[in-house]
Amino acid sequence: MRDFTNRMVFITGGSSGIGLATAELLFERGAHLVIFARDENKMKRAVARIEKRRRNQGQTIGTVRMDVTSARDVHGRIDRAVKSFGAPDLLIASAGIGAADVFENIRAEVFDAIMKTNVYGVRETVAAALPHMKAGGGHIVLLSSAAGLIGMYGYTAYAASKYAVVGLAECLRAELKRHRIGVSVVCPPEVETPFLEWETSTIPPETRMVKSFAGLLSPEIVARAVVKGIRRGKFLIIPGVMARLLYLSHRLTNGWATRVPSDAIAAFARWRADRTAK
Ligand SMILES: NC(=O)c1ccc[n+]([C@@H]2O[C@H](COP(=O)([O-])OP(=O)(O)OC[C@H]3O[C@@H](n4cnc5c(N)ncnc54)[C@H](OP(=O)(O)O)[C@@H]3O)[C@@H](O)[C@H]2O)c1
Repeated sequence: MRDFTNRMVFITGGSSGIGLATAELLFERGAHLVIFARDENKMKRAVARIEKRRRNQGQTIGTVRMDVTSARDVHGRIDRAVKSFGAPDLLIASAGIGAADVFENIRAEVFDAIMKTNVYGVRETVAAALPHMKAGGGHIVLLSSAAGLIGMYGYTAYAASKYAVVGLAECLRAELKRHRIGVSVVCPPEVETPFLEWETSTIPPETRMVKSFAGLLSPEIVARAVVKGIRRGKFLIIPGVMARLLYLSHRLTNGWATRVPSDAIAAFARWRADRTAK
């Protein structure tokens, strides 16, 4: 998809962070938008922000309250959104949650909630939108994470969910090609969004220090990488030079080049935390 003018874009999680920054950029490029999230006030504030980037008076923005963890909600709301606004040319599944802690501290309910949002939420979103996209073709973007390419300390639940999204995207890409639907999966490192507040209270010092090596990006940089990736029909989108280099070295050395330094960094962070605690 090279031109976004008058294209209909459905974005889950479009009220905040990466989803919002991507919505703003696409609106600036002439797209119509429908944002899906749970909190209506947050969506209202997002629409006020997006409006500032309006390119022409014909553009529409809709908001739909939807919880991606409820299959019934997702199918019902997406069907209704198609009736009200039209079928999506571009679907972006950005809604996601996270938690960082050592495996023993992540309760089964937390693991379950992460899986329900990040994996089943994405599955249901794609399953609900796909029948409406098949006739006209289009593009689907799934938000994974650098943690969906390289596992690390403190991310057993989150990385498991994001690896699943990468697998889902790889298989979808192969299957949807014949319907002229492109698929991209986005794997950013740490991004400065409200998402980070989720983990601040529980993130182990080891995770904090290891993560900092992949860099911290703004949601606007990620949004630009997403839009550029869609225009180029790119499958794997890794925003940020540092994250791309890390992934390349991980692949080329079968994980050795990231495991050895991250183990050393984790050991140092643990030693420093123990010393501070004494
Ligand atoms: N920030 C990072 O460091 C980072 C790095 C790599 C990948 N990612 C991934 O990028 C995606 C976006 O993250 P972000 O940083 O933009 O997060 P964010 O700022 O916290 O935004 C998350 C969005 O998802 C929506 N959402 C959450 N749970 C939902 C549910 N059950 N149903 C519907 N909507 C829901 C939120 O709205 P409501 O709460 O109103 O529903 C919000 O609009 C996520 O998939 C995340 O895993 C983030």
